[in-house]
Amino acid sequence: MGVSYKDIGLVNTKEMFAKAMEGKYAIPAYNFNNLEQLQAIVTACVESKSPVILQVSKGAREYANATMLRYMAMGAVQYAKELGCEIPIALHLDHGDSFETAKSCIDSGFSSVMIDGSHLPFEENITLTKKVVDYAHSLDVTVEGELGVLAGIEDDVVAEKSTYTNPDQVVEFVEKTGCDSLAISIGTSHGAFKFKAGQPVPPLRFDILKECEVRLPGFPIVLHGASSVVQEYVEMINQYGGKLEGALGVPEEQLRQAAASAVCKINIDSDGRLALTAKIREFLAEHPEEFDPRKYLKPARTELVKMYKAKNVNVLGSAGKA
Ligand code: G3H
Ligand code: 13P
Ligand code: ZN
Repeated sequence: MGVSYKDIGLVNTKEMFAKAMEGKYAIPAYNFNNLEQLQAIVTACVESKSPVILQVSKGAREYANATMLRYMAMGAVQYAKELGCEIPIALHLDHGDSFETAKSCIDSGFSSVMIDGSHLPFEENITLTKKVVDYAHSLDVTVEGELGVLAGIEDDVVAEKSTYTNPDQVVEFVEKTGCDSLAISIGTSHGAFKFKAGQPVPPLRFDILKECEVRLPGFPIVLHGASSVVQEYVEMINQYGGKLEGALGVPEEQLRQAAASAVCKINIDSDGRLALTAKIREFLAEHPEEFDPRKYLKPARTELVKMYKAKNVNVLGSAGKA
């Protein structure tokens, strides 16, 4: 017998996206794998009064354990209440790779799932996505599909090159699958090395986004690979023994532009990893005698809160919308 997300106090993405579309902002979808990341995301979103999508990849699920994650999400809802603000919180599977993974997440309390059939032939992507939608919708869980391939690493799937979304396919895909939102590929990619260092950063393909918006009026679009790869953290990592030369992300101005369009969900993982790693490296370099994880995780968590709040306020426009 499964657990419904409704019993845990979570919400699906339907209302969040409708409001984001109307208000011309985007909901943050922040990935987490551990307690400190989750605490930071919830604290930042409560303090900035932002709705939030807690995002869990297949790898995160394997790392943290599915049961543990469900209770962590339940804890996050209660923790937000304790902090004094009931923000809408969705628990979302990121890059689900099979019907079985999506079903298992839905049955264990996720309120939203992504089924990523973007690497499959078009018809197979439709078939797989529809199968997930049919099951998810029977339990009022929302589904994100994807058309077009992003370069970079998603769990075990590595794509060398991106393939932009073909706007001519989006209507058929959405109509045949019944999905609730669509991730598209317009030049972002996963990870901390999105563009070639020393060369001008090619702008995102806003023309493709516009074409998708015209064909799917009012339909929520999702942007993956949207870390801006904050240079302050890259420099700090390199200063304290790391090796991340040439790491580059999406300029914030372009993310702001996307958030003001039909893009209702913006996925950010790498920026959280960078902030956490930078602060841990700095602390350990400056306090070589410390070995209590609380000592080095606390400043890292504080930095994460600062960064997520800044994203909500300055980039996504979701602050004050809860
Ligand atoms: O899109 C990928 C996310 O950043 C998740 O990464 O599969 O290493 O947890 P992960
Ligand atoms: P980044 O690697 O740019 O943070 O993208 C994360 C993402 O798209 C998760 O699905
Ligand atoms: Zn992604």
